[in-house]
Amino acid sequence: MTSIFDRIGGAGPVAAVVEEFYTRVTADPDLREYFAGADMAKLKAHQRSFVAAALGGPQEYRGRSMAEAHAGLGVTAEHFDAVVAHLTGTMEDLGVPADTIATVAAALAPLKEQIVQARLPV
Ligand code: HEM
Repeated sequence: MTSIFDRIGGAGPVAAVVEEFYTRVTADPDLREYFAGADMAKLKAHQRSFVAAALGGPQEYRGRSMAEAHAGLGVTAEHFDAVVAHLTGTMEDLGVPADTIATVAAALAPLKEQIVQARLPV
């Protein structure tokens, strides 16, 4: 079976989605403060590889775990949902098929408990 990564067209479309997604997230007054101290170039690179790996692409994700990356940020459930909405909205606007978007959204749902109010493992 072809992976979602292949179905959406590979690394190019993934990079385009990630770029537009962060433009939207950092323009959102409810969300942008979370990203004030982040190295956006590095974050985008990690996000590209995370998304590519999550969609079944060939590349391995080598960034931090979701709990580590978000520890201490105090992400709320509401803000998690808002970020997911920006991601699905971006994919819609960039022409990703609805069934693929639904698959991606379903894959993100289990990350919520790792990201919301994340703490470092003790
Ligand atoms: C929807 C699911 C999410 C995924 C898949 C995701 C994925 C990632 C990845 C791959 C990184 C980079 C990790 C690294 O550098 O090693 C990261 C970092 C980050 N994420 Fe998320 N994220 C999600 C949700 C959120 C939410 C909801 C927020 C805030 C509202 C957020 C804020 C951040 C910030 C600020 C960083 C940078 C942290 C730093 O540089 O220290 N993320 N995320």
